Amino acid sequence: MLKEKDPYLIVGASGLIGRAMSQSLSKRGIRWKGTYHSRFEPGLVKWDITNLDETKNIFSKFNPISVVLCTNLPGGVDFCDENRHIAAEFHLNSTKRIGQYCKEVNATLIYLSTDYVFDGGKYPYQEEAMPNPLNVYGQLKFQSEQWIQENLKKFLIIRTTNVYGWDPQTVTPNYMMNLYRALQKGKIFHAPSFLFGNPTYVVDLVQGILELCEKNYSGLFHIVGDSFINRFQWALDAATILGLEMSLIKELKYPISNKIERPLKSWLSNKKFKDHCKTKMHNHLEGLNLMKLSLERSY
Ligand SMILES: NC(=O)c1ccc[n+]([C@@H]2O[C@H](COP(=O)([O-])OP(=O)(O)OC[C@H]3O[C@@H](n4cnc5c(N)ncnc54)[C@H](OP(=O)(O)O)[C@@H]3O)[C@@H](O)[C@H]2O)c1
Repeated sequence: MLKEKDPYLIVGASGLIGRAMSQSLSKRGIRWKGTYHSRFEPGLVKWDITNLDETKNIFSKFNPISVVLCTNLPGGVDFCDENRHIAAEFHLNSTKRIGQYCKEVNATLIYLSTDYVFDGGKYPYQEEAMPNPLNVYGQLKFQSEQWIQENLKKFLIIRTTNVYGWDPQTVTPNYMMNLYRALQKGKIFHAPSFLFGNPTYVVDLVQGILELCEKNYSGLFHIVGDSFINRFQWALDAATILGLEMSLIKELKYPISNKIERPLKSWLSNKKFKDHCKTKMHNHLEGLNLMKLSLERSY
């Protein structure tokens, strides 16, 4: 008997983007299945994407129309540089395996990628700009993008950056949650003024992805918020909007020299997305006001 198709399988539904995606789908009344790895959540299925048997099992159990791959390796960019083999297994080889299964079950792979494929030297970056990753994380994400483009017909690659939102269940808080929690406890918060990017409100991001899916678009899109600012300014603006003590925010003017190289000014142009879609990509001030509403609702 043929298994009923589930519209969406969210891989990493216990993460920031995955959870926002599942909430957006539920609000629209669209069925989805989701997975977690180490943080149990009721309703989600356990899956380690680096485990071959578990991967096979998932695809024999579920029959998705779209697979949204929003997993991330704990430890982030620094961990990847220090643990290249583990990082390659997670970011590249697992993506290839999942892509291969998507092909077999005729599902669309929706892959979350990053501004870290660029070096930050020639912004704003359009989708067709030539990547030049500075670290292992960026290299692996770029190699995954290349594999997907060369091997799959049904895919969406979404490059995004500086994603934030209020997600009290998360154990990997984003920049804005870290800021909020530190200032609320009266702690000093160091904010780099040399690091520029596009703050992207997580709800806008997932709504943008869903609009691309509904319109049956495929290919590579940048989905980011409408501001390009440095993290110090972002933190000051957030403190104003969220009613927090601004004097606790201390400017970090220079990178710490022994840190992994990363793009210091990465500005993804969202023009292509805006030309194709109606979802509003709020600037950081608008996004922070939306985050404030969801923060107030959560208490
Ligand atoms: N957040 C950003 O600012 C940003 C910017 C650019 C690109 N992206 C991309 O967006 C994606 C998602 O980011 P995020 O911020 O939502 O990540 P996140 O909040 O850290 O969540 C990561 C998710 O991956 C799951 N996971 C970890 N190890 C796993 C494994 N071995 N097998 C299966 N699942 C595993 C986690 O499950 P458990 O927690 O249950 O272990 C969690 O659900 C990443 O690919 C990242 O490259 C994010």
